[in-house]
Amino acid sequence: MWDYIKLAGLGVLVLYGAIGLNFARDDAFLVHALIILLVAGGLLLHTLRRIGEPKPVHDPGVYMDDVVRAGVIATAFWGVVGFAAGTWIAFQLAFPQLNFEWAQGYLNFGRLRPLHTSAVIFAFGGNALIATAFYVVQRTSAARLWGGNLAWFVFWGYQIFIVMAATGYILGSTQGNEYAEPEWLTDLWLTVVWVAFLAVFVGTLVKRRERHIYVANWFYLSFIITVAMLHLVNNVAVPVSAFGSRSVPLWSGVQSAMVQWWYGHNAVGFFLTAGFLGMMYYFIPKQAERPVYSYKLSIIHFWALIFLYIWAGPHHLHYTALPNWAQTLGMTFSIMLWMPSWGGMINGLMTLSGAWDKLRTDPVIRMMVVAVGFYGMATFEGPVMSIRSVNSLSHYTDWTIGHVHSGALGWNGMITFGALYYLTPRLWKREGLYSLALVSWHFWLATIGIVLYAASMWVTGIMEGLMWRQVDAQGFLVNSFADTVEAKFPMYVVRALGGTMFATGAIIMCYNLWKTVTSVPERKPVGTAGTAVAAE
Ligand code: HEM
Ligand code: HEM
Repeated sequence: MWDYIKLAGLGVLVLYGAIGLNFARDDAFLVHALIILLVAGGLLLHTLRRIGEPKPVHDPGVYMDDVVRAGVIATAFWGVVGFAAGTWIAFQLAFPQLNFEWAQGYLNFGRLRPLHTSAVIFAFGGNALIATAFYVVQRTSAARLWGGNLAWFVFWGYQIFIVMAATGYILGSTQGNEYAEPEWLTDLWLTVVWVAFLAVFVGTLVKRRERHIYVANWFYLSFIITVAMLHLVNNVAVPVSAFGSRSVPLWSGVQSAMVQWWYGHNAVGFFLTAGFLGMMYYFIPKQAERPVYSYKLSIIHFWALIFLYIWAGPHHLHYTALPNWAQTLGMTFSIMLWMPSWGGMINGLMTLSGAWDKLRTDPVIRMMVVAVGFYGMATFEGPVMSIRSVNSLSHYTDWTIGHVHSGALGWNGMITFGALYYLTPRLWKREGLYSLALVSWHFWLATIGIVLYAASMWVTGIMEGLMWRQVDAQGFLVNSFADTVEAKFPMYVVRALGGTMFATGAIIMCYNLWKTVTSVPERKPVGTAGTAVAAE
């Protein structure tokens, strides 16, 4: 019965793709219709050929790790793509000639910038979050993922979302809302995939064999639920046509700005923070072989963090048409956010108590510790930048870009690398990593790369902020905008070099992980490895 429902659904999609291909009103929709046609058509044939065949029965006592393995590969792949795009656009800003005439309208800075942000946040970060959430929830619940192949649907559905978003940007389809650029069709698809993700995660928690829900799962769950809510509210729009990518948003004016930055800030708070804290709470204790420093602190800072984050969005809209009280509210909550954020940092760092010597010998733990350090830095800098008078200097300048990347490269990047180094030998049942020396190389390239990136952006950001403000004795502006752009040039080159180092480190990681899978001998099976045992 289920097969026939599936066939009917796929048939409708094939039909929609075929009609869309014929009547597409723009290039982006044309490509998306083609993707729908090919994917739904392929699945239709696959399902037809397998109809009536007995379904494989999975042992509920064995963890579902193949989908996590796929997630590890996807994370590493999209990471390299996203870092390469970031490095390329950094060079484009330093050398505008790299916006080639022949590529105008497709590969110029304006088209590639959202490609970069989505590739790193959603493709690299998102795959890391989905893969680790699936790994962690199984281990800490002592249960196989709920929903059978639904986890595979989440994985592949998410990759399709990424491809639809990326092709949309290059072909000029965008809602123009930062980090929420994809248009209605891509948004709808992501909604379906996300609901499936929520179902797999919650389903696994429900059938857990451990009484307690480990704290990492609280962070993952808050991330999944909040992102669903943000995505739905910020993307309410009416499509202009069923066969075109344009849509008209429901929100307008300052309400639209407020909803967008409520979304944007909580994308930082729940996608780039809460989810990654879930990662921190599992992988740091495992790698350090120490229990979490304070379980009580983890619970307190969890509730404080999720309560405060949701109000802080207006700090993105200082000195705008947003009412003053709302700006002050955003600022106040942002300052309060410093405390729960540092609660998380302290808990992560102090988990190493009694194991600090590992910093000398284990480059993976070093990476994780540096990640938590950058998390602490970014969450101190953020509250400072949210103060209205500070923001009047920092807003529109590269200071914001420096803040973003000390958080994104330092925190999200490094903790993900640590998790990948932890996961690969375990998922492929290898004795260990291929080379710790290469992990060290990666560590230093990434760390120096981040320092070059962040330091150059702080210098150029504060410099341009001050240059914009400078007035002469008569009160006239001293510098033109072009003067500030010229003054920033050396710092832009330093940033691009920092990015090159960071991206090179990631390529070294891919090589190391590849060699781990292909050349390191297999780990001898130890008792119940690979089966559901009491929570680790
Ligand atoms: C090799 C590493 C990277 C390089 C060279 C790089 C470079 C850049 C550049 C040049 C921009 C545009 C800045 C501007 O418009 O002035 C940018 C924006 C951005 N990047 Fe990266 N990036 C890298 C990695 C990452 C990672 C790993 C993340 C997130 C996980 C990230 C998130 C962002 C975000 C959110 C923005 C938009 C910032 C804003 O609008 O304020 N980047 N990046
Ligand atoms: C307590 C925590 C934090 C606070 C209060 C905070 C505050 C801020 C402020 C005030 C801005 C500048 C807004 C503007 O002038 O337009 C900003 C920008 C940004 N922050 Fe944070 N931040 C925090 C943590 C983080 C972390 C950990 C990350 C990344 C992992 C991050 C990523 C970003 C991004 C991507 C932007 C750029 C938004 C845009 O495109 O304009 N923040 N943050």
